[in-house]
Amino acid sequence: MRSLGIIVAFLSLVLASSAFAASAAAARGAAAAARAEFAAAVGMPGDSARGALLYRTCAACHAPNGGGTDNGIVPAIAGQHARVLIEQLADFRSGERSDATMEHFGDRQRLAGPQALADVAKYVSQLPPVASGGSGDGAAVERGAGAYGRACARCHGAAAEGDAAKRVPRLAGQRQVYLSRQLHAAAERRPRMRAQHAQLFKRTGPRDLDDLAVYLASLMPIAAPR
Ligand code: HEC
Ligand code: HEC
Repeated sequence: MRSLGIIVAFLSLVLASSAFAASAAAARGAAAAARAEFAAAVGMPGDSARGALLYRTCAACHAPNGGGTDNGIVPAIAGQHARVLIEQLADFRSGERSDATMEHFGDRQRLAGPQALADVAKYVSQLPPVASGGSGDGAAVERGAGAYGRACARCHGAAAEGDAAKRVPRLAGQRQVYLSRQLHAAAERRPRMRAQHAQLFKRTGPRDLDDLAVYLASLMPIAAPR
């Protein structure tokens, strides 16, 4: 009886470790698939007329003008750099970034492949950016500006305009509630953003994260270059 127990324990150990290895391999496979899809989509000239048709599904949540929702649940995406949009969509598809809603609405049934990613990204990047109307209190904006200059500007740009070539998202004019939620989630290492950021946000501290969100929402977004 005792030896049976040992065998059972041994077998479940083997099973558990192989399941772990399989899920790690699946995650690596998904990440590789997202990189391949991103590379293919970025190399394609997007067709914004086709993108407009695809965007009909998206408009239900992101609004027809791409401005997102006032409650901060759905982010503004209008005028974001096309390369950034393609990468974000590819990340949702691979599970690199997790959000049940976007994994569903950005899946292959709605956006069939790299060409569809390129088309919808082209269309969204050409929508005029929508100001979030954030008007946080002046002191928080000022503190946020300071924190931004110290920790973020070197990558995201002096005016938070992002960098298309390096695929750094524009943050100017993003909605405050959304940003705040996203920065806190990243600091707590929920899988929304890459590890590099998680560490930076953790060091930044919760009050600075809120100030950063207030500051960024107060900026006028600048259109992505065509
Ligand atoms: C049912 C609502 C819904 C639909 C439909 C939808 N989205 Fe989203 N989208 C969201 C939510 C919610 C988020 C925020 C996810 C998060 O918190 O990480 C999001 C995030 C995004 C982001 C990341 C933006 C950022 O700054 O991080 C992009 C890009 C995006 N959506 C594009 C699209 C496109 C393109 C479509 C259509 C093919 C689409 N979405 C359809 C709800 C939706
Ligand atoms: C070393 C360069 C670098 C620094 C410093 C940096 N970022 Fe980023 N950031 C990136 C890149 C690249 C991405 C896109 C890929 C990703 O999500 O990791 C990004 C993505 C983001 C996003 C996600 C946008 C989205 O919805 O996908 C937010 C929000 C953000 N950064 C905020 C900040 C803030 C706030 C700071 C300063 C505290 C900061 N970043 C500092 C490079 C940087």
